[in-house]
Order: sequence, then C-alpha cells, then structure tokens
Amino acid sequence: MGLHLLTVCYLFGSVTFIVGLKMLASPASARKGNIIAAVGMAVAILATIFLYRNSETGLHLHNYAWIFGGLLIGGIVGTLSAKKVKMTSMPEMVSLFNGMGGACAALISLVEFNHLSKELKEGTLEISAVQPTVLIIVLGLIIGSISFAGSMVAWGKLNGRVKDFSFPGQNILNLAFLAIALGLGVYLIIDPAQTFILYGILALSLVYGVLFVMPIGGADMPVVISLLNSFTGVAAACGGFLYDNKVMLTGGILVGAAGTLLTVLMCKAMNRSLLNVLVGSFGGSNKTGAAGENTNQVAYKEISISDGAMVMNYATKVMIVPGYGLAVAQAQHICHELEKILEEKGVEVKYAIHPVAGRMPGHMNVLLAEADVSYDKLLEMETANDEFKTTDVVLILGANDVVNPAAKNDPASPIYGMPILEVEQAKTVIVNKRSMKPGYAGIENALFFQPKTAMLFGDAKKVLQQICAELKTI
Ligand code: TAP
Repeated sequence: MGLHLLTVCYLFGSVTFIVGLKMLASPASARKGNIIAAVGMAVAILATIFLYRNSETGLHLHNYAWIFGGLLIGGIVGTLSAKKVKMTSMPEMVSLFNGMGGACAALISLVEFNHLSKELKEGTLEISAVQPTVLIIVLGLIIGSISFAGSMVAWGKLNGRVKDFSFPGQNILNLAFLAIALGLGVYLIIDPAQTFILYGILALSLVYGVLFVMPIGGADMPVVISLLNSFTGVAAACGGFLYDNKVMLTGGILVGAAGTLLTVLMCKAMNRSLLNVLVGSFGGSNKTGAAGENTNQVAYKEISISDGAMVMNYATKVMIVPGYGLAVAQAQHICHELEKILEEKGVEVKYAIHPVAGRMPGHMNVLLAEADVSYDKLLEMETANDEFKTTDVVLILGANDVVNPAAKNDPASPIYGMPILEVEQAKTVIVNKRSMKPGYAGIENALFFQPKTAMLFGDAKKVLQQICAELKTI
C-alpha cells in the first residue's frame, strides 16, 4: 500500500513539474506555476521520507534528525536569501543554488559508488552486474562536479569576487582535462574495483569546471549559468536512474531540457553561437573615450525634463522601452505611475520588451510585473516593431544594446544580426540614461546621434519622478 501511495505521490509530483513549467511560459501564470511545482516537490520529498522502503531490507528511512535538520537549515537559508536578494542580483543567486544542485548530484555518485565497492569487496555483487550503474555514477559525478565548480566561479564573477582569467592554450588544456576525466571514467566502468580512480575523476572534473568558466566574460554569465543549469538537470536525472526514482528523473530531464532550450534561445536573441559565448570575448572592448564619452560621433541633442514631459503630454501614443538601467535604478514603480498619468490624459501607453533586455531571461517582464503593470501592455519585439510606425514618442529607459541600429547596419559590429527594437520608426525618440557610456556589449550607439533622438540624462528613477511631477502641472 505504502509503495502504491508513493508511486501516486511521485506521479503527482511529476505532473506538477510539467504543469508548473508550462505555466512559467507566461508572466500572467508564472507565479502560480512556481507554487504548483513547489507543492509537487514538497509532496515528493515528504513521500520519500515517510513512504519509501528499501526493496531488500524493507526498511523505511530512519535518520529523521539529519533529514529534518538539513531541511530546516536549508529552508531557512533559502527563504532568507530569496527574500533579501535584489532583482539585479538574481542571476548570482540562481548560480549559487544551481551549484548546490550540481554538488548534490556529485555527492550522490560518491556515496553510491562507496556502497557498490563495499559489496564488490564482500563478493555479494559481480563486476558485470554493477557496470551499468557505474556508468551512471561516473556521468553524474563528472556533470555534477563541472556544474558545481563552474557555478561557483560564475557566482564569484557576478558578485565581483572573481576576475576573468585566461592564458594561451587554455581551451586545449581544458579539453585535455575533460578527455582524461572521461577516459578514467571508461577505465572505472571496466574495472570498478579501482576505487581511487573515482577521486581522480572528481578532481579533474572540478578543475575543468573552474577552467571552463574562468575565461568567459562576466557579462556572458547568464548564458553560461543557463548552460550549467541544464548540466545540473542531467546530473540529477542520473541520480533518478541510480535510485530508480521516477520523480527525480522527470525533474532532472525537465531542468536539463529547459536549460538547454533557454541557452539556445538566449544565444539566438543575441545572434551569437554558443561556441562564440564560450570561447569568444564580448562586452570587453570599450570603443569609447577615456571618460566613456563617445569619440566617433559628432553631436547629440539633449532634452529637458519639462520639454520631455510636454512632448509626451501631447502625444497620442507613447511606447516605453525598458532596459537594464531601469532595473538598476529600480524605477519600475514610478514608470507605472508615469503610464497611469499619461493614460489619464488620454495617451495610449505600451511597453516594448526585447527578449534579452536586462540581464536574465524575462527580466523586464518580472520587473514590470512587480510594479503591477498589466501584462497586456507588454508587447513582444515583433509586435512592437510593427507598432513603432504609429508611435509618437518612444521613451527608452536604461536600454542601449537592444535599440542599437548597428545590429542591422554595421556588419563589423559584435552585435550585428541581433534582432533589435526598431525605435527609429517612431516620430520622436527620448533616451534616458546617465551618460554616453556604452551598455553591455561595450559599443557606441548611433541611435543617440540621430536627428529624431533626444538624450535625457539622469538616473531613471529620479528622471521619471521629475517627469511625473511636471506632467501633473500641465
Ligand atoms: P545595456 O545594453 O546593458 O544598457 C543599459 C544601459 O542602462 C547602459 O547603457 C547604462 O548607461 C544605463 N543605465 C545604467 N544604470 C542606469 C540608471 N540608474 N538610470 C538610467 N540608465 C542607467 O542594456 P539592454 O539594452 O537592456 O541590453 C541588455 C544587454 O545584455 C544585451 O546586450 C544582451 O545581449 C545582454 N544580455 C542579456 C541577457 C538576458 S537573458 N537578458 C543575458 C546575457 C546578456 P549609463 O551608464 O550611461 O547610465
């Protein structure tokens, strides 16, 4: 009976993961989807703790003090850090948590191999009978350790503790480490009695994980984190195979597949290949003058707060383009306030969302949802590009690369080919940022120098507060 109930709980858990993941696809249902999958995970964990029985000994799990002690500590640390984390530091936190998942998968492999080798020594198991299990153990160990070590380096880079580091021939050395780890893995599968080899594989995989992420530009970390996330999923799926645990297998496969798809989508939206992200350099070359001021272009036009407010006041349609700077300034609430003021004046207001605006997938959607901006006001890139023709004013708030025409016009540009928001089609473009410094890609933006563009310098939150105050007086 216990076993049947356990199967039902696992089935329930698996279904909630799939439904939850599907619901994450839309900002309107994402929060609910997250809760549904979390409930499923809680049910699967509690069912394992109380209903699981070892098929040979018939015993339940018994070390409850350790289990609940761990759950309590992990639960408190996880809740507190999730509550404290700033939206702009989210990729950092995802990286840290992902590293923990990779470490768990690697630890499972170590523990299970120890069990196996004990039984091999006692002669209760034949080598040929354990070889398929050793294959899974080796895969879980290699993938989990790479994910752990790589995620820790990514976490360190994002919070500024670790700097980019590379040396000539590093990629070849990295591949050599990986090849040796895989070769030792094959050797261990052939002769599982050589226990010490397992620790050699562990050490090589950890070194590979560190060296693999070390040279990648800090700004490319979101793509790398998404890739490492998929590694952790695959490593967890190996754990599911080991324990013949269907819910762990389903969860691992879903994370592995979703992480891979997300990595591909991010690369596509930036028009870069994964190889270019992993071995190329991007975002490092700052093609501007000493103070970050643009040196190649002639002149740009500035607009005052009152003129900016006036232009929007008399517009029929205003399109807001949010970018990374809006997140940095935490200006989402005042941005929503501006939207409401303009709408009260009869101006139609919409938001144009670029798929890689900000620093993580869905960054702008999450940010604007936090300020209760209605989802139906958020236009995806293709729809927004159709609507710019009929837009009077485009207000760019802390966005740069995602509106850079070099992506369309300049084959020499590192972002050439990346789909962009074609804001130049609107009648007037107002760009709010603090200076003429470049954005993530480190390149200048010709949009800022076009006749229909006017720069509105200042921190996005302060500028929006002033515009709102001004609009209330008109
Ligand atoms: P960016 O190109 O990074 O530009 C952000 C701009 O915000 C900067 O030029 C900065 O100029 C301005 N800014 C910073 N703080 C500000 C503040 N407090 N107030 C006003 N402005 C401020 O941002 P984007 O247009 O959103 O493009 C995102 C970039 O990140 C793309 O290149 C994309 O490929 C990359 N990327 C995105 C992702 C995902 S998944 N979203 C993942 C990896 C990489 P000032 O310093 O002059 O203020």
